[in-house]
Amino acid sequence: MTPLIGETEDERVDLKSKIRNLKSKMKPLRVDIITIFPDYFRAVFDYGIIRRARAAGLVTIEAHDLRAWTSDKHHVVDDRPFGGGDGMVMKPEPIFAAVKSLTGANRRETVPQGTRVVLLSPQGQTLTQASAAEFAKCEHVILICGRYEGVDERVADAVVTDEISIGDYVLSGGEPAALVVIDATLRLLPGALGSETSAVTESFSDGMLDYPHYTRPPEFEGMRVPEVLLTGNHAEIARWRREAALEKTKRNRPDLLK
Ligand code: ADE
Repeated sequence: MTPLIGETEDERVDLKSKIRNLKSKMKPLRVDIITIFPDYFRAVFDYGIIRRARAAGLVTIEAHDLRAWTSDKHHVVDDRPFGGGDGMVMKPEPIFAAVKSLTGANRRETVPQGTRVVLLSPQGQTLTQASAAEFAKCEHVILICGRYEGVDERVADAVVTDEISIGDYVLSGGEPAALVVIDATLRLLPGALGSETSAVTESFSDGMLDYPHYTRPPEFEGMRVPEVLLTGNHAEIARWRREAALEKTKRNRPDLLK
């Protein structure tokens, strides 16, 4: 059987040096967030994967206040919906102005190659590991966070390259969704993970959930770690992990196996 990438020590060393080479040639990914709550993001930039990716020079990330792109005295970003109905709709002008100033483009067709203009909305396509991997290959990702009842549809129609939802539920705004996209994307940048091989073996990268993990103690409150994991027999362990991943996928996410 062919071993998984990075399964042997030699392969791991090889992979790490490839990653180092790639990193030295790569420009950092630029992430711009357009939001009416820029402060919402401040603390998270300094923790976990975002802090690590920034410190390693893999990403530059900035949260911009949408109101900076308004031209009226009161910095209004929303208005009542045409046709009536509850709530307010985010106006198109400040969003188009923001995208224009960040990318030079105000239509999808002229957005530079390697740039994605992403609108977070519950009407979008569901974020997947594959879409996060695509964002990780870009040079520039702009994340537009909607608020209120929605965003004037001309934004999605004319300037957005990807309308993304993080799941079938409605958040009060796109900000938490933007964080999810950022986290899922940054951890796929070569060099951002603690162990560069983990992104290759984890959930969804092969259409299945990840296998169950255990650490010490070998017995906790009467629950024993599966014996095979304590044997040091790597072929048996790899077989057990494949089977356990399949079982878990059948139980929790049968839709992935269809
Ligand atoms: N804004 C509100 N709900 C959302 C969702 N589920 N995904 C992305 N953005 C959203």
